[in-house]
Amino acid sequence: MADDLIILAGTKQEQYEGLIPQIKGLLEGETDLVANLANMAAALKEQFGWFWVGFYLVKKNELVLGPFQGPVACTRIKKGRGVCGTSWAEKKTLIVPDVEKFPGHIACSSLSKSEIVVPVIRNDEVVAVMDVDSEKLDHFDSTDQSFLEQIVSLLAF
Ligand code: SME
Repeated sequence: MADDLIILAGTKQEQYEGLIPQIKGLLEGETDLVANLANMAAALKEQFGWFWVGFYLVKKNELVLGPFQGPVACTRIKKGRGVCGTSWAEKKTLIVPDVEKFPGHIACSSLSKSEIVVPVIRNDEVVAVMDVDSEKLDHFDSTDQSFLEQIVSLLAF
């Protein structure tokens, strides 16, 4: 059984730097993808307390809800739709400071105000996206982008 997560204080960068080795520890020796996605979402939720954090997996040309922490969410998203589907289509991380200003944003919850979506890319194909939602406007920046991109790179698909 895994040890409890150690929650760190400090700057956002320090929090990510303390969390990454712990996430590596959680993934070590476990090959099951769902188990690893679930623990990764839980570790991020515990450290940062975000409103929603989780994964959508590419299945038969659409995104299907995977492991997450937070309120219930939309289950299927088409390529090019919403922030998640756009991140998939464009194969890049999207930071949305105000979801109301993102054309086509899919509101799973009216409480979500800003969002970051990070694609998981393997062999030049998007296999999943990590989605993080906040109740605060403008909550995510390039620090989140660079650490979350590092974190999803730890996943073995
Ligand atoms: N807002 C996302 C949908 C997923 S939920 O926020 C969990 C989007 O526009 O793709």
